[in-house]
Amino acid sequence: MALTLTFHGHATFSLDIDGTHVVVDPFFAPNNPMAKKTAADISADYILQTHGHGDHIADTVPLAQRTGALVIANFEIANWLGAKGVEKVHPQHLGGGYNHPIGYVKMTPALHGSGLPDGSYGGMPGGFLLHVAGKKVYFSGDTAVFSDMKLIGDAGIDLAVLPIGDNFTMGPDDSLLAIKFLRPKVVVPCHYNTWPPIEQDAAAWAERVHAETDATPIVLNAEESYTL
Ligand code: NI
Ligand code: MN
Repeated sequence: MALTLTFHGHATFSLDIDGTHVVVDPFFAPNNPMAKKTAADISADYILQTHGHGDHIADTVPLAQRTGALVIANFEIANWLGAKGVEKVHPQHLGGGYNHPIGYVKMTPALHGSGLPDGSYGGMPGGFLLHVAGKKVYFSGDTAVFSDMKLIGDAGIDLAVLPIGDNFTMGPDDSLLAIKFLRPKVVVPCHYNTWPPIEQDAAAWAERVHAETDATPIVLNAEESYTL
């Protein structure tokens, strides 16, 4: 079973699971300053939506409508997407997992906001813990560090994707703490360098991950991939 993670810039990723494409938080060019591709360039069979902020959901409706992808989101966002014309939605909520054809997808808590671009209530923000292709992959979503990441880490995480930008989410210092709680084999940073308030030195962060944790840091530029 092959599992490849591709970074699209900011906090948008694709996970290729034996040719099935899972897109996390669709936010592409031209609105995403870090992205090289537009939503029209992207394949999607599933879309995972961590929360309702525009830098995560801007391209969800057009991508879902063009591809017919199933969107997995919290109940409030799933209803909102349905009202916007997305036909295939699967509502879940924090702490709840479901056996989808790709594997078990569990929503995890996050400490953040989730208001939708039109001001609608987007419920609680979350992350996703996936059991896919024999691996466990965790997308924290936008969040502060929290000590219950220790419980999420008890699952035995192969790959964790964490924000490091500071200002809107945890920054480099707190991400090191999160890595110690989560104990992933590999960690990929996101949500940095998109705008001036979240500028970070990812190489310096990776040096610290090497020095201070047991995880292997993998820094990806837009459209670069990592195969587990
Ligand atoms: Ni956000
Ligand atoms: Mn964000």
